[in-house]
Amino acid sequence: MIRTMTNIAIVLLAAGQGTRMRSCLPKVMHKAGGRTLLGHVLAATSLVSPTRTVVVNGPDMADVEAEARRWSPGARFAIQESRQGTGHAVSTAAPELKDFTGTVLVLYGDVPLIAPETIKALATSVTPRTPLAVLAFRAADPTGYGRLIIKSGKLTAIREELDATPEERKTDLCNSGFIAADSALLWRLLARIKNDNAKGEYYLTDLVELAVKENIAVAHTVCPEAEVHGVNTRAQLAAVEAILQARYRQQAMECGATLVAPETVFFSADTKLGSDVVVEPNVVFGPGVTVGDNVAILAFSHVEGATIATGARIGPFARLRPGAEIGKEVHIGNFVEIKKAKIEEGAKANHLAYIGDARVGAKSNIGAGAITCNYDGFEKHLTDIGDDVFVGSNTALVAPVKVGDGANIAAGSVITRDVPAEALAVARGEQQLREGWATKYRAMKRKRMKRNK
Ligand code: UD1
Ligand code: MG
Repeated sequence: MIRTMTNIAIVLLAAGQGTRMRSCLPKVMHKAGGRTLLGHVLAATSLVSPTRTVVVNGPDMADVEAEARRWSPGARFAIQESRQGTGHAVSTAAPELKDFTGTVLVLYGDVPLIAPETIKALATSVTPRTPLAVLAFRAADPTGYGRLIIKSGKLTAIREELDATPEERKTDLCNSGFIAADSALLWRLLARIKNDNAKGEYYLTDLVELAVKENIAVAHTVCPEAEVHGVNTRAQLAAVEAILQARYRQQAMECGATLVAPETVFFSADTKLGSDVVVEPNVVFGPGVTVGDNVAILAFSHVEGATIATGARIGPFARLRPGAEIGKEVHIGNFVEIKKAKIEEGAKANHLAYIGDARVGAKSNIGAGAITCNYDGFEKHLTDIGDDVFVGSNTALVAPVKVGDGANIAAGSVITRDVPAEALAVARGEQQLREGWATKYRAMKRKRMKRNK
């Protein structure tokens, strides 16, 4: 018999302003691995395919809503006007889940390292016999965490640090904060939580004791501590970044990329590398990069929102910005910037160029110092360069402008009108020559200097 998973709803707590971050940005909007903390947690719910997601937000957090919708297009939102504890935060989501029956998973928006498999294990440990489940971990330093109280092998309560006895504090088995519960049980017990504790807050963790009093068994699953690191400070954000980068580097190498100096390469959560890709030292991958097979990305290149096809060579010191589409066997060299431009198969821009809002046809050559003048101070305009075009050094292509297949543009030209296929365009001051002029000039200057002494 195939066991199908019950309906899953996510309640994601993201109401914390994150005072200790000292930031205008809500805490869950800070990024690690090129992705917001919120994005990491929502991405980790992939294996449970939630039928509904409710994000509990603080007031005035429109950017959190927009970001949550990127990851869960149908996400709903509940505003917690004042922070009165994790139990209170979950109950603000109740109106959005009135018609939902199944398992409710409560996750925190500031715990980005959680693995999809762990979330799935927590969700599936909710059964008719154990309608409530808690995700626990063994803490190297349990200070500050809620402790799991186990009696005769059974979880009987979670005690917050401030409310725990010295004896209860001795355990290293701590509460991650993530729970899963049958929806009917959750709403029934939540209504009974009180705030008569050290912090004067409604603790979600009190669910455990309330369930046990009704002889309802509570399950707990244990995950590695590394997955439940929370982010409260910039230092913790940096620590999470380091863990993620170590993971991404490992994955890249396992998938067949050579990283010459892995510790100097920075990836984003969504970076995709083909096989036999070589990445030299000090390369940064921003979000949205896909790299094909046999690509070399040379030292000190910065790549973001770009696709790079098989056999291309990028860098050293290249910058690919969003919308750069680099074709097969293309060469992009030092101090070349590409933005929103398609560079077709075999084309080359080897030194000091800016190509933006453009197409460069197959096998065309962009000379050193060539620039697409794509912006007039108000609008962006397109430059269309055909196949087999030679663009001489220091050419300014004033967009909108088209250059036909096989055309040749003389170095130093300022191109303001379309160039037909196979034509030569020269648009620069004509060179004048005066034979012997320099000799006469020097003689005249020397004579004058002598006289003035
Ligand atoms: C909570 C747990 C504790 C656990 C720890 C793990 C409770 C009572 N305690 O404690 O057992 O060991 O997490 O890190 O649940 N939030 C809101 N609204 C609120 C309060 C909190 O949205 O009114 C959100 C926060 O933004 C955060 C999460 O809930 O994402 C946890 O809140 P926090 O105040 O950090 O709880 P802890 O005291 O750390
Ligand atoms: Mg906390």
